[in-house]
Amino acid sequence: MKPMTSFKALRLHAGDPEPERRIESLTLDDLGPGDVTIEVAYSSINYKDALASRGRNQIVRQYPRIGGIDLTGTVMTSSDARFSAGDEVVVHGFGIGVDHDGGHAQVARVPADWVLPLPRGISLFEGAVLGAAGYTAALSLHWMELNGLAPDRGPVLVNGATGGVASIAIDMFTQRGYRVTAMTGKTDAHDELKALGAAEVIGRRSADASSKPLEKGLWAGAVDSVGGAGLAWLTRTMLPDGVIAAFGNAGGAELATTVLPFILRGVRLIGINANSPMPLRREVWPKIAGDYRPAHLDRIAHVITLEQLPEHLDRMLEGRLRGRTVIRMKG
Ligand SMILES: NC(=O)c1ccc[n+]([C@@H]2O[C@H](COP(=O)([O-])OP(=O)(O)OC[C@H]3O[C@@H](n4cnc5c(N)ncnc54)[C@H](OP(=O)(O)O)[C@@H]3O)[C@@H](O)[C@H]2O)c1
Repeated sequence: MKPMTSFKALRLHAGDPEPERRIESLTLDDLGPGDVTIEVAYSSINYKDALASRGRNQIVRQYPRIGGIDLTGTVMTSSDARFSAGDEVVVHGFGIGVDHDGGHAQVARVPADWVLPLPRGISLFEGAVLGAAGYTAALSLHWMELNGLAPDRGPVLVNGATGGVASIAIDMFTQRGYRVTAMTGKTDAHDELKALGAAEVIGRRSADASSKPLEKGLWAGAVDSVGGAGLAWLTRTMLPDGVIAAFGNAGGAELATTVLPFILRGVRLIGINANSPMPLRREVWPKIAGDYRPAHLDRIAHVITLEQLPEHLDRMLEGRLRGRTVIRMKG
């Protein structure tokens, strides 16, 4: 691979009241430390990137910082024997884009312990469409099935359905044999959600304050991007032994419910943290390439350039993105 002397990145700089975002030309000396230098093929936009780019939730505390919590690419150089030039890899979490320079650049440098060889059968593009979001969907499926979920137990509700994690979850769970109900706040998204495999599409529930701790049981499983009142409603409407994977707070961080769904229906509320240790990643990523493989990644992906990234980060915060927005770094 030919040496790259300079490359482009979107860097966040300290600013008041929020960080300044600059597309800059950098050299390898500008990057944080690491054993593996990667020519980034694709990165993506996750909700955390959008928050960080506007200085929300104190996600980034030290500037300058290249954002981007996931990337796929090809190893340029490695001082660690586990990797060689030309290897295709995927990196997400472990602090990239937060307290270590991340994927919103044409080159990244990270510790070898954070790098996962791209599973056989997944392209650099597919790996980025999946990224941290696809891993979150897969980790949800993994833990839900370990907690008793199976296609014959009943339908699975996926809320925040047009979101990145949710779009992949709809596809992944459908391919795995589940009957998926998609819940969305977008009235014009029903056809596209059905095209991903959703058997039915329902509207987002307004945040009601039901006085009933239990309502009619509807769902064997639920994939929750939303938190808040949406998650509280899920706890009330799960079938006996239903399993909820909760990883998001797009609709709120609070959770007002009672213990009754848990003690009378055996509902299982599982927390999902995609920033999981490497052994779990090594177990789950090959499943994404195999039994969990989604069928509609091309349909879920929207490809943009690095120059278009700032505008799209804002669009995510405004709820105007759908599916997965992938940044192509070359060209
Ligand atoms: N725990 C973890 O490790 C982990 C990993 C990945 C993501 N997350 C979190 O999971 C969530 C989803 O991430 P993402 O990248 O998929 O984000 P995203 O693409 O922005 O999707 C979020 C979706 O939630 C819905 N939504 C937005 N505001 C809402 C509101 N006020 N009430 C109800 N629904 C609302 C929207 O879908 P509709 O318009 O279709 O309803 C939106 O598309 C975020 O909170 C993110 O931080 C956590």
